[in-house]
Amino acid sequence: MNDPVRSGSPMRLSNKVAVTAGAASGIRRAISLRLAAQGATVITTDLNADGGAGVIEEIRSNGGKAAFRTLDTASEEQWRDVAAWTVEQHGTPDIPVNNAGVYLIRPSPIRRSRSGRR
Ligand SMILES: NC(=O)c1ccc[n+]([C@@H]2O[C@H](COP(=O)([O-])OP(=O)(O)OC[C@H]3O[C@@H](n4cnc5c(N)ncnc54)[C@H](O)[C@@H]3O)[C@@H](O)[C@H]2O)c1
Repeated sequence: MNDPVRSGSPMRLSNKVAVTAGAASGIRRAISLRLAAQGATVITTDLNADGGAGVIEEIRSNGGKAAFRTLDTASEEQWRDVAAWTVEQHGTPDIPVNNAGVYLIRPSPIRRSRSGRR
């Protein structure tokens, strides 16, 4: 296969730009590290600037390319700023990764009887 993106090459994302949202921890952090390991320049964003700094430090220490921008995914204005900065500094992004979120655990509204039946 000649297409480096579809081939099994470990650096198949060289020359690609990824923007990962909510990437200071958890799933997107892991995705960011993986994208960088495959050669992508990763623009990591999160509300948590300290966590984001840690991610780009880890990417860079492994020879990858990364930058961090503070971003609240609920803010359209901040998305516009990050998009404009990314295009200006690195070109049009190829890979958007946005599933920022938190997992809320609430007690079930359904009460169970002693037998466990609803
Ligand atoms: N971990 C799992 O097994 C799992 C499984 C299914 C679904 N999910 C869902 O995937 C999402 C992420 O899970 P995770 O385990 O990676 O969570 P996590 O708590 O480790 O990471 C969430 C990240 O999102 C950031 N964040 C939260 N709100 C933000 C906002 N408004 N703008 C920017 N950044 C924001 C946080 O600062 C944090 O860095 C959650 O919505 C979770 O419910 C997780």
